[in-house]
Amino acid sequence: MKITIVGTGYVGLVTGTCFAEIGHEVLCVDNDTSKIEMLRRFEMPIYEKDLPELVKKNVHEKRLQFSTCIEEGNRFSEVIFVAVGTPPGYKGEANMSYVENVGRRVAETMDSYRLLVEKSTVPINTGEQLKRTISKYLSSDIDFDIASNPEFLREGTAIEDALNPDRIVVGIESVRAAELLRKIYAPIIERSGCEFLEMNIASAELTKHASNSFLAMKISFINAVSRICELAGADIQQVAHGMGLDKRISPNFLNAGVGYGGSCFPKDVDAFVHIADQYGYSFELLKEVQRINQSQREHFMQKLQRELWVTQDKTIAILGLAFKPGTDDIRQAPSLYFVPQLLEAKAKLKLWDPIAKAKFDEIHPTLNYYDTPIECATDADIVLILTDWPEIKSMDLDRLKSVMKCPAIIDGRNLFDPKEMKNKKISYYSIGRTH
Ligand code: UGA
Repeated sequence: MKITIVGTGYVGLVTGTCFAEIGHEVLCVDNDTSKIEMLRRFEMPIYEKDLPELVKKNVHEKRLQFSTCIEEGNRFSEVIFVAVGTPPGYKGEANMSYVENVGRRVAETMDSYRLLVEKSTVPINTGEQLKRTISKYLSSDIDFDIASNPEFLREGTAIEDALNPDRIVVGIESVRAAELLRKIYAPIIERSGCEFLEMNIASAELTKHASNSFLAMKISFINAVSRICELAGADIQQVAHGMGLDKRISPNFLNAGVGYGGSCFPKDVDAFVHIADQYGYSFELLKEVQRINQSQREHFMQKLQRELWVTQDKTIAILGLAFKPGTDDIRQAPSLYFVPQLLEAKAKLKLWDPIAKAKFDEIHPTLNYYDTPIECATDADIVLILTDWPEIKSMDLDRLKSVMKCPAIIDGRNLFDPKEMKNKKISYYSIGRTH
């Protein structure tokens, strides 16, 4: 089938590439000329495992192409996926101007049936709004459909998630739209055996918000329990293990840490709280999820201050700048919270990250970046672990101890065993465990 994808951010580019990989003919459109030029040179605007190889392969096999022209995208296919940004506004509400703009421009140049599929995470009732916009700007009485098809892929495992999803959710209003989407997804349903869930558009939109917010709530829950563990002399990893073996709870998303980050959870929880408010429901549970997440960062900072006593002129090695391993994404990463505060406190910072260094350097170009965790920790008074990169977990701890000024670690990801640290005489503080 021919498919147009508008927006070549994380979701758009991965979705388009995966649709091409399963045999469709895909045109990815973006109004950012430099991005499209990069993609045509096979340079990726984002870091994602296996993406460059898949883009190259599918372009060479003539199933994937790029354009800056939305009208070309409109002519290319009767199915148009909208994967443009919905950045947060002043009160946490999503800015819908990019989505609205796509709807308007498609309507203005539409000459036959089109199915517009919302792929970006959008507030409930975006489907209704898009329908109104298209009807308003259509020049003649042409049939069209709107559908919602939220994406559940994670950064770092995006290709695997897109090709082998747990479920495919579609919000539809017509048999024609359902059939088109089922046909598009048939190869994925066949290879993954996942369910194809049809529901109304508002339910599909809400499923996305509820899923991300539920996962954020799970993380805040375990983080709150970790605080009690510290006070009560319990171990959060043993508690989480004990909870997670209950199939109804599951062990996933029960890792206590320095709080969730990234481009999705913080933004989506904010947006869901805002949407609920608009509907007249004050979502106190989610507001508490946000508060716990913030407090987890502050608590980590207090641990650092307690250990250092005075921060000024101390050399602090920060291991991990990305919001999670496997990505160069630093949006809402813990590193972006701690670095400005430590600079303000006049600490000397040394930074390490295997992939996100370049992105961080764009924001903090005067800081010192190192190639390995050990080089970064050399002469440091303390090491902060902010991302669970495997390179940190596999560090030679004896070597680390020998290069540091004072062997001390504050671990925001619980990568090491406190007993081992004690034996090695390294001061070690982690999350929700007594030391
Ligand atoms: C998240 C969802 O997991 C995806 O299903 C969804 O499609 C995506 O948002 C989106 O809306 O686009 P992502 O932001 O890539 O995916 O990352 P996650 O793996 O979910 O991690 C989010 C944050 O939670 C990270 O900061 C991670 O370190 C933290 N986390 C995760 C924990 O602190 N503890 C855990 O147990 C799990």
